[in-house]
Amino acid sequence: MLYLRSATLLYIITQQALAQFVSLQDAKLTTLDSPHNPNITISYKVPEGACKTAFDAQKQFTGWVSIPIGDQSINLFFWFVEAREPTPALTIWLNGGTGGSSMSGFWQENGPCEVVEKDKDHLEVKAREWGWDRASNMLYIDMPSVGFSYTTPIMNGSFDSYNATTIFPPEPVPEWSSPWAFSNGTFSSPNPITNTTTTAHIVWHLLQAFLSTFPQYNPPSNSSVGINLFAKGTTAPYAPLFASYFHSQNLALSNGIINGCGIDPLSQAQSYATMAVNNSFHLPLLTPAQASAILDAAFHSPGSSSSCLYSLTFPYQQSTSRSLYDINNPSFDPLPNQTHLTYLNTLPFLSAISSPINFTDFPPLPPVPLNNDPLPAITSLLSQGVRIALLYSDRDYLCNWRSGHSTSLTVSSLLPFYSSSFPAADYSPIYTNSSYTGGATRQFSLLSFSRIYSAGHFPSFSQAETTFQIFARIILGLSLSTVADTCDDESARAVLQGKEGAVVNGVWYTSEGDWQLPPGQGQKNDGGGGPGQEEEAAPTTAVMTGIFTTSIVVPTSRLSSGAVVHGRGGYYSASGLSVVVGALAGLLLL
Ligand SMILES: *[C@@H]1O[C@H](CO)[C@@H](O)[C@H](O)[C@H]1NC(C)=O
Ligand SMILES: *[C@@H]1O[C@H](CO)[C@@H](O)[C@H](O)[C@H]1NC(C)=O
Ligand SMILES: *[C@@H]1O[C@H](CO)[C@@H](O)[C@H](O)[C@H]1NC(C)=O
Ligand SMILES: *[C@@H]1O[C@H](CO)[C@@H](O)[C@H](O)[C@H]1NC(C)=O
Ligand SMILES: *[C@@H]1O[C@H](CO)[C@@H](O)[C@H](O)[C@H]1NC(C)=O
Ligand SMILES: *[C@@H]1O[C@H](CO)[C@@H](O)[C@H](O)[C@H]1NC(C)=O
Ligand SMILES: *[C@@H]1O[C@H](CO)[C@@H](O)[C@H](O)[C@H]1NC(C)=O
Ligand SMILES: *[C@@H]1O[C@H](CO)[C@@H](O)[C@H](O)[C@H]1NC(C)=O
Ligand SMILES: *[C@@H]1O[C@H](CO)[C@@H](O)[C@H](O)[C@H]1NC(C)=O
Ligand SMILES: *[C@@H]1O[C@H](CO)[C@@H](O)[C@H](O)[C@H]1NC(C)=O
Repeated sequence: MLYLRSATLLYIITQQALAQFVSLQDAKLTTLDSPHNPNITISYKVPEGACKTAFDAQKQFTGWVSIPIGDQSINLFFWFVEAREPTPALTIWLNGGTGGSSMSGFWQENGPCEVVEKDKDHLEVKAREWGWDRASNMLYIDMPSVGFSYTTPIMNGSFDSYNATTIFPPEPVPEWSSPWAFSNGTFSSPNPITNTTTTAHIVWHLLQAFLSTFPQYNPPSNSSVGINLFAKGTTAPYAPLFASYFHSQNLALSNGIINGCGIDPLSQAQSYATMAVNNSFHLPLLTPAQASAILDAAFHSPGSSSSCLYSLTFPYQQSTSRSLYDINNPSFDPLPNQTHLTYLNTLPFLSAISSPINFTDFPPLPPVPLNNDPLPAITSLLSQGVRIALLYSDRDYLCNWRSGHSTSLTVSSLLPFYSSSFPAADYSPIYTNSSYTGGATRQFSLLSFSRIYSAGHFPSFSQAETTFQIFARIILGLSLSTVADTCDDESARAVLQGKEGAVVNGVWYTSEGDWQLPPGQGQKNDGGGGPGQEEEAAPTTAVMTGIFTTSIVVPTSRLSSGAVVHGRGGYYSASGLSVVVGALAGLLLL
């Protein structure tokens, strides 16, 4: 498992009997006014030693953008890390609704580094092989009063991890609890923002302050890659609203949604029935009667309230002893583990980023309610030239791929340009690398839906390489299936004009007879292994850079015969289709 050559960092965790409150003597932050609004400040530093990257040259900055709201200030935490190799791409990562910290994605999924246990009291931080910094500059942001973001005044208190509540002022450990479950610390005030419109505005201020302080990370307007917004799980419905707001402020981006919940409540509600009886693993999770009871409930309730929506998972929770996040795992699912929580609350770490507060993963906050419907935001982004990529894992029950699949079809049905072409594109295999098919994808023009095989709610944890490859292909505007093909002008025109041809496995050919099995692809994948199949393949070589560009070479005879839009229309960085699509849509922004 050791794939890092250079020295790693070591922290000794000691029981600090008294030093529970955070009180940093010298924050060493550089504070500047935001050039774009003098009431807003940005404070940042280099978080020395906090996160080991693949290459020492990769710059990192952590800090807060401080935005006044009445007599309080909202301090939004960011962690920026430069890509391993220079690229103009900048990706914003948002986790877990307005209530879950992006430090989960950073440490448990796709961040540049990970915490590993070396001994009872020793944690190490190592570069992550498939961190997304492999393809993009990354900016992780915590929502107001979540994670390391804080709203003033900050307060000393006690954190009761059993009830997941903070108590002010601090109290002695109650009799029913114990010191490891009830500990003192310093915490944020509750989030004063009550709607998603204002939240989007606040996050946009952060981005403005960040980009004007570090203009070198603002992708140039003539670049083929731009700013991307990726969001996961219950944050997913917020992401298109944020993206719409950023876009209205002239920031071009692509929007990736990973295991999104709540985007299209009706299809999500129905999916809890379908996924239970008709998942790709032939696992009967519920009886047909239980499934149809869910369908009844789904149709008889409006489905818009999230508490109602998630109550449709109760039959699954009661009848199976499986995890909501991974149908292969037991309901008490220890993976991915939470070691980073300990690390983030150590004094050396808090000092490295100069945090005035403790870290809390899911602070006891009510979620900020959605005040807009995400579906119109998605269709509007698509018609304005923003790429929309939906990624779902095949073993996640909570935010399952059945709902993602339906959502993708619903979105396409709302736009004439996509309504027949997207369903017709059908699924193509996702070639993770020369030996592994990591999923299936349907892609047409700017819209794609991908299903990742053998992955739970944390796809970068279960399938790090596949998830990374899909991410990289999305932000580069490539075909998600494989990047082997090119699209010449003639075939692009033929597709767009609806000329005759045939689609085989998601590839358009001038005629069906042109199809042949790609070299090296003799093995069939029936839908991704199965529960119980563990894929432990630890990398033996330490290759920390690079994006798979396929050994599946499409014969040039097929290219010259005009075949070829792999995944149909998945091409933007190459010449041809992107320009044609843009010209047709009139609004391509890249
Ligand atoms: C807060 O951080 C301090 C300093 O590392 C630590 O001693 C304390 O246990 C932390 N409290 C909580 C609730 O995490
Ligand atoms: C800055 O704050 C002052 C005082 O609240 C306000 O009058 C002014 O309009 C603000 N400036 C900007 C650019 O928001
Ligand atoms: C948590 O996961 C890391 C790898 O990400 C591993 O090194 C560590 O040992 C795990 N901790 C436990 C308690 O399983
Ligand atoms: C928390 O307590 C510590 C130690 O008593 C003190 O230094 C610090 O100022 C307190 N913080 C707040 C926000 O009250
Ligand atoms: C937390 O849980 C314990 C154990 O069930 C209970 O005794 C206590 O009253 C709870 N505290 C709060 C604030 O809910
Ligand atoms: C937390 O702080 C309270 C109040 O200062 C104190 O009584 C209690 O002993 C502290 N808890 C721990 C675990 O040190
Ligand atoms: C959102 O909240 C702000 C105040 O925080 C308010 O001014 C605004 O009207 C609200 N917008 C919507 C759409 O509810
Ligand atoms: C983009 O513009 C800059 C400055 O005008 C120029 O140096 C660079 O070569 C251009 N890049 C591309 C990809 O056209
Ligand atoms: C299960 O899903 C497959 C593929 O989407 C579909 O063809 C089949 O009809 C479904 N079966 C049931 C019982 O829903
Ligand atoms: C291909 O990807 C799979 C899954 O990530 C991995 O186990 C395998 O080692 C990779 N093979 C090559 C040749 O990189």
